[in-house]
Formats: sequence, structure tokens, C-alpha cells
Amino acid sequence: MAEKCFFDEIIECLDTQKDKHKTIFVQHETIREFFAEKAAVSKPVQEKLSSQPIPEQRKMSAVPAPSIKPPTASPAGKIAVENLSLNELRAVALNCHLCKLHSKRNTVVFGEGNPQAELMFIGEGPGMEEDMQGRPFVGAAGQLLDKMIIAMQYTREEVYIANIVKCRPPNNRNPEEDEAAQCLPYLKRQIELVSPKVIVLLGAIPLLRLLGKTGIMKLRGQWDEYNGIKVMPTFHPAFLLRSPEAKKDVWRDLQQVMKFLGKVYKKDN
Ligand code: URA
Repeated sequence: MAEKCFFDEIIECLDTQKDKHKTIFVQHETIREFFAEKAAVSKPVQEKLSSQPIPEQRKMSAVPAPSIKPPTASPAGKIAVENLSLNELRAVALNCHLCKLHSKRNTVVFGEGNPQAELMFIGEGPGMEEDMQGRPFVGAAGQLLDKMIIAMQYTREEVYIANIVKCRPPNNRNPEEDEAAQCLPYLKRQIELVSPKVIVLLGAIPLLRLLGKTGIMKLRGQWDEYNGIKVMPTFHPAFLLRSPEAKKDVWRDLQQVMKFLGKVYKKDN
């Protein structure tokens, strides 16, 4: 049996505590589904995801968008996205050839989730699995992110998940500066449209590319801001797979987010 993850324990704890604290903000359906098959903790999550109508990327990647113009580069070499809706933006991104990453991609991983999410996660870029499926965070790191989301008392469908770059960097290298710069207008427009209350930055790359800051070790767990939106930098789930002892730090960071969003235990008065 797979070793129990720190986040599995948190989810289990939430499940037991919900009977003691009647006003706890845990969605019963989430907990029930999660524990439907406890030995394989991520499976119910996966099943739930595959039965969901939401994954816009999957839907959209199958839908050609003939009415939407290909991206136009401004004199500064940036794309014009200011007036695009989320669906228009996706259609444009799916045709994007602005940087060299387009040549080796299988799919464009636009991002997915609730277009009105109060909570948004931003990673660095698609890996092999994401590139195959056209969806963000569906590999091993994604399974851990799913657990983090559920431990935060959300479902994956309630949040929005995106990346700094939308095409896979070869051999999972970090996105380069020019690649991030070409792709960032898409993400910035996504943020503007989704308008979350909190953005969680997963690791050093989104911290660098969205906020222009280095030092994830020092800056994780400290509230920051992007265009008036609260930002919480924390470690990337792929780092947590290599360094599970850091999960406790991440949980501390995520609890700050939960507290801000009202996802806290409330004892009966
Ligand atoms: N890592 C990321 O940063 N993003 C993904 O979508 C998958 C893995």
C-alpha cells in the first residue's frame, strides 16, 4: 500500500473533526468521495475529475476556433489580449507560435478550473503528462496538488490552475526568460478575468516570472501582492515529492490562505 502522505493525514483529520465542529467548512461530498477508496487516495479524485464537465482545456482543445484571429504581435513583440474573453484567449493560445516551445509541444496547456475561482494556483509549465493530456498538473506533482487542494477544503473544480508557460519546456527544464515573457500576457489576462482573491505561486519560477522576485526559501509563507490580489508563494509540489519534510511548511502557508478565505475551523458557541 502506498505510504500515507502528510496531506492524507490532514484530510483524515478534517474528516474526524467535522463531527465535533458542526460549523466546519468541509464539503461532505468531497470527504465522502475522497474516502470512498481510502487505500488509493488519489483515485477518487481522479475519477471525480474524469466525470466532471468542467475541464475547459479538454473541451476547448477539441474545438477549433475559426472565428478567432491568430495572435498578433505588437511592436514590442507581445500579444494583444486585453479585450479577449477566457474562451477567446484559450483559442488564441492554442494557436500560439510566439516562442520556440511551440515546435516540440503536443498540446498547449492553457489552464483549467472555475472561471470565477477565488483561489488560483500557478505552476511553472507543463511536464510530459500535461503535454500529452493538455491539462495542467495531471502527473505525479499534480496528484499531490490535488491533495493540497482537498486539504484546503476545496475541490479541484472550484479553483483555477495555470502555469507561467503553456507549452512544455524540453526535458522539463525551466522556462527561459524570453519564453516566459512571450507567454505571460496570456496568464496575466487569465488572472484579470478569473480575478481570484488569492493566488498561490508554486515554486521559484512563478515567483520570479510573475513577481520578479528570487528566493523562494525566504519568501515562501509571506503574503505578497499582484495587481491588488493577495499572493502566497510556497514550494512546488514536485519539490515536495523530493523533500516530503517540507510539506509541513507548505501546509503552514496554505493555512494562511485558508484563514484569509474563511476556510477555518469554527467551534460551536
Ligand atoms: N509542474 C508544473 O509546474 N505545472 C504543471 O502543469 C505540471 C507540473
